[in-house]
Amino acid sequence: MGTATDGAPAIEATDLTKSYGDVQALDGLSFTVEAGEFFGLLGPNGAGKTTFINALVGLVRADGGTAEVFGYDVEDDYREARDRIGLAPQEFNVDRFFPIVEVLEHKAGYHGFDPDAARRRAEDALKTAGIYEKRDTRFDWLSGGMKRRFMLARALVSDPDLLILDEPTAGVDVQLRRDLWTVIDRLNEGGTTILLTTHYIEEAERLCDRVAIVDQGRKVEVATPDELTSRGTDTLEIGLADPPVTAPALDHADVVEATMVDGHLEVVARGGGSVLPAVLKQLDADGYDVTTVDVRRASLEEVFVDMTRTEGAVQQ
Ligand SMILES: Nc1ncnc2c1ncn2[C@@H]1O[C@H](COP(=O)(O)OP(=O)(O)OP(=O)(O)O)[C@@H](O)[C@H]1O
Ligand SMILES: [Mg+2]
Repeated sequence: MGTATDGAPAIEATDLTKSYGDVQALDGLSFTVEAGEFFGLLGPNGAGKTTFINALVGLVRADGGTAEVFGYDVEDDYREARDRIGLAPQEFNVDRFFPIVEVLEHKAGYHGFDPDAARRRAEDALKTAGIYEKRDTRFDWLSGGMKRRFMLARALVSDPDLLILDEPTAGVDVQLRRDLWTVIDRLNEGGTTILLTTHYIEEAERLCDRVAIVDQGRKVEVATPDELTSRGTDTLEIGLADPPVTAPALDHADVVEATMVDGHLEVVARGGGSVLPAVLKQLDADGYDVTTVDVRRASLEEVFVDMTRTEGAVQQ
């Protein structure tokens, strides 16, 4: 491998645009994924995630802007860029009639491995993805979850530096989802850069170092899951010994709302945990007897929904 790309980010997208007729699938999308990162791409249906991925792997030609993978332009240096990417696409696109181990051998061969090495890579990838025992089965005969595992194996067979997973856990059971998380996490620890799209926000929260939120072909935000959740409001649920009918007035800049709900005082606040002592102090001063306290942190999911809510629109 050349050294020209040492230190280059895994992905550098600048002002990418792509339209399909009236639909602006990418509308000036820019962001950077550092080498070694575990990066999440979140956005509602139709946000442009798959279009972006397809632009990286050369399946879509952008109308404008540039994208580089480890310093290689995805159009001008297509071969170099493509060789570094392993893609598990959202839609299955597989040779359905051959034993899956052969499909993988062909793919490894295409990426330059000699026949023996290709066989070893194929078998290793199937083992990593946990479907080695199905190696002589054709794709059509795998269960839905096994098909997802196979897509991961296929993405891994070329030993990519950048692994792109477009909704790898869509529709798979809880056990398989956790298995896949473990496998992907381990790959990332071994140095593989991961770009993951998912509609399971919890998945992104658990796995990703940073997430980009995209909507309508544009970047809304890039931050760590923690930074994003800290922007949401938390809810304090406070039990009172002698609950009043209307909520006591709470005098604190970070309190958004205080209401009585089922005999509890429910306080919606920014930075809920840090507001709590002041709220308890005030309740005590006002003569209330606090019996229970529960703090519910904002989830990334709530913050995500707030950031991508489009008035009255059904995206598709
Ligand atoms: N080949 C195509 N022809 C016409 N329109 C397309 C094509 N591919 C994508 N689009 C449109 O571009 C927009 C972005 O689609 P894309 O598949 O990138 O979204 P996504 O973020 O991956 O959504 P999802 O979460 O549903 O997978 C959508 O409005 C979609 O209908
Ligand atoms: Mg998609």
